Amino acid sequence: MEAFLVEGGRRLEGSLRVDGAKNAVLPIMAAAILTEEEVILEDVPRITDAMHMAEILTILGCDVEQENRCVTVRSGALHGWEMPDRLSKQIRSSIFLLGPILSRFRKATVTYPGGCEIGLRPIDLHLRGLRSLGVEITESGGMIHCDGSFMRSGDVYFDYPSVGATENVMMAAVLLSGMTTIHNAAREPEIVDLQNMINAMGGHVRGAGSQMIEIEGVRRLHGVRWTPMPDRIVAGTLLAAGAITGGEIELTNAPAADMMAVLSKLREMGCVIHEEPGRLVLSAPERLSAFAQLQTQPHPGFPTDMQVQMLALLSVAQGTGVIMENVFENRFTHAGDLNRMGARILCSGRTAVVQGVEKLYGARVTARDLRGGAALVLAGLRAQGVTQVDQACLVDRGYDHLEDQLSALGAKIQRINV
Ligand code: EPZ
Repeated sequence: MEAFLVEGGRRLEGSLRVDGAKNAVLPIMAAAILTEEEVILEDVPRITDAMHMAEILTILGCDVEQENRCVTVRSGALHGWEMPDRLSKQIRSSIFLLGPILSRFRKATVTYPGGCEIGLRPIDLHLRGLRSLGVEITESGGMIHCDGSFMRSGDVYFDYPSVGATENVMMAAVLLSGMTTIHNAAREPEIVDLQNMINAMGGHVRGAGSQMIEIEGVRRLHGVRWTPMPDRIVAGTLLAAGAITGGEIELTNAPAADMMAVLSKLREMGCVIHEEPGRLVLSAPERLSAFAQLQTQPHPGFPTDMQVQMLALLSVAQGTGVIMENVFENRFTHAGDLNRMGARILCSGRTAVVQGVEKLYGARVTARDLRGGAALVLAGLRAQGVTQVDQACLVDRGYDHLEDQLSALGAKIQRINV
């Protein structure tokens, strides 16, 4: 097993470029099978979730080439409409393939993606959305069998603006003749990126980023060369690293316009942030001030994927603050480890009350999911002494060698085998 070893107490300074977004790349790789022509994706981060998605596409019969940060998908020989059980459990985002596979084959078999540390991660909204398009779905033995023989365009209404379900239905509808309208759609920027790529392939999708998305079906899509949007969560995490160490960092290729909620909270904590299109410069005070409260919400509210990083910042801030996690049911699993480092966090259900402390102390802690693992690294950057964060592999799911990125900003961090 690999771990990060972090020596705290160093102020981060320097400049980094933000890579492509995991949560844009994964649905976009799935969308690549909507055409038999070549799809070239650039600036794809070297993260394990993307590698697993490439592996699934390969098993389904696609030709997938990865060279550095460029991924080429040719799905002419795509033959499989049954998702490999092992892999679809390994990454939840394999569920994004349901829509595109139905578009190609009018049938699909997938296994229930596993839940994970942050919650049960049900897919009822995905299935209800597809049923609204006439897909017949039966479930047996943990497998989901979809028959799309009579799929048709129509209206889809989501009880909750689910990101994945919105993306799945968009991809299922793009080759269906007629107009499909998604009501109460999720508004995340990654959905806009997916729309823009589908339109660059010849699709007719509009409204992504709003609660109503209209998909006018087309007969076919053609290949494309596409650069996914930059990762707003990695960017937020790097800004948080500068903030927790009282540092000064610049991010280039940063999706500033998609990060308003995070920038607002960091400013509330005393950070001065200069922003312009594609560039952010943060300078942080020696000690942050606590925000009164933070609530996670669907976009454009505060992103749940930045919640636990902010929990780490709040734990060393001046004052007391409250965090409410409204999106997932179990996203405070790292509070215990932060408390072992000297934090004063009291969790009850979806609420955490945090009394900021002057000092954290290095300890051996364990990542339980990718964002929580990153947050423990952030705490280690501030802590007195050395912190070991076990299960670095979980952080690698969504961060492309986080230790290299932070080292480039002056952190003393290394990856070790334990
Ligand atoms: C996407 O997950 C992201 N993953 C998540 O990022 C992110 O936290 C989440 O959106 C919210 O922004 C990718 O894009 C690959 P949801 P997704 O469907 O699509 C419930 C990260 O760290 N729900 O919007 O799974 C669900 O349980 C990851 O990068 C249902 O009840 O999120 C959750 O409570 C973590 N039924 C809420 O909705 C469903 O059918 C939000 O889920 C689907 C979801």
